[in-house]
Amino acid sequence: MPVLYAGQKNGAITEYDLTLQSGRTAFFDNQFTPTIGINQSYLGPTLDMVNGADVRMSVTNTLEEDATLHWHGFHVPARYDGTPHQRIAPGETWTAQFQVRQKPSLFWYHSHAHRRAGPQVYHGLAGPIIVRDDEGRTDSLPHEYGIDDVPLIVQDRAFGSDGRLIYARSMHDIMMGMRGDTLLVNGVIDPAFECQTELLRLRLLNGSNARIYDFEFETQQSFLMTGSDGGHLEAPVRMSRIRLSPGERAEIVVDASHGVPLQLLARSLSGEMGMMDGGMMGGRWGRGNSRRSSEGSVFKVLLIVPNEQLRPSTATPAKLTTLPAIDPSKAVKTRRFVLEMGMGMGMRGRGGFTINGKSMDMARIDERVKLDTTEIWEVENASMMAHPFHVHDVQFRILDRNGRPPPEHEMGLKDTVLLSSRERVRLLLSFKDYADSDTPYMYHCHILEHEDAGMMGQFVIEA
Ligand code: C2O
Ligand code: CU
Ligand code: CU
Repeated sequence: MPVLYAGQKNGAITEYDLTLQSGRTAFFDNQFTPTIGINQSYLGPTLDMVNGADVRMSVTNTLEEDATLHWHGFHVPARYDGTPHQRIAPGETWTAQFQVRQKPSLFWYHSHAHRRAGPQVYHGLAGPIIVRDDEGRTDSLPHEYGIDDVPLIVQDRAFGSDGRLIYARSMHDIMMGMRGDTLLVNGVIDPAFECQTELLRLRLLNGSNARIYDFEFETQQSFLMTGSDGGHLEAPVRMSRIRLSPGERAEIVVDASHGVPLQLLARSLSGEMGMMDGGMMGGRWGRGNSRRSSEGSVFKVLLIVPNEQLRPSTATPAKLTTLPAIDPSKAVKTRRFVLEMGMGMGMRGRGGFTINGKSMDMARIDERVKLDTTEIWEVENASMMAHPFHVHDVQFRILDRNGRPPPEHEMGLKDTVLLSSRERVRLLLSFKDYADSDTPYMYHCHILEHEDAGMMGQFVIEA
């Protein structure tokens, strides 16, 4: 379980000191893996934040290369967003100060280094952020951190026999995104959790570089999904399987009152949507915790072991929040974004990973939007692979997928949306509070190898 770090109070400001550092982590017995982390050897602490608080993030880079930290899902001024434009050189400290303006939810922070986000996140530069509401408690859902409220950062990794992490050795690893056969959950292989309460809230984050998973219980037990990327759903949605692509989050409430152990699994989907990867027969668990079957790779995520005496939990409310109506008539403009993967990789930005035919260029502003306006972004995936499309600064709403309204659990606040091959998704976004015509925010594919290879663009918000 990542430690909870609520920062240090300094007058009206809450300060978080974050040090990017290299270290060694024991994922296996008697083997140390070189890794990087934040205030620890792999990953970072759970940053505990209260909505409305003024926070100061001091990020010191003790690594031997440039790095950044980005607050994924957060609405902050562009100069504090932690993109490639806020590069932290080795030995330097970067300070970001902003007010937390989020609904209670799980967010995360991670490296966004120029062309190096993939390897840096893979080696450990990421961590969760839990935003709680102004009263200091989350809501009427389970909210005792580490007891009945547990974040799960799910990441697949490939290890060599020497215990070292293997990163993107082939063009295939870049094309498909880097995938491994071992699943780490909060940096641990195959964890078990002793559950003390009838209801357990799990905050799932797909923190993988590229894999898309369907999460489900081995017994097919259903659960309630209570929140998406940026906040609560209006009402809980009963589900037995939830799909998350890299960057996406979901909060679920699981009923353990029957007292029987529950194994949470993640089935990996191939890059081409709808198809499970692998396809090989056999049912053995490998070195790590993946099993290949005719249905594809299945990973063990968490074994929930209920105590003999479970403490009663408050029933999940039938209504969680009220969200503004999804009203496209407010939009003043529609922009189109076409995601493409060409052949002939290797030529920088030519025929590779593009949005609207362009590969990421830090010196080019691709879109200029007006402060205090609402827009429709129509995103089309013209490639053969699925891509999670992420937009900085905003929590958007999904208007439709291929012209049809999204399923209930996608009607909430989102900052990342998965697009199947050939799919067209329309998003409704509002730009407010912060204008800066010089410093851009990013939009990009959250398969980190695609992001690094150029499937990213920049927008500014102008007053
Ligand atoms: Cu999670 Cu632009 O990033
Ligand atoms: Cu982001
Ligand atoms: Cu992609």
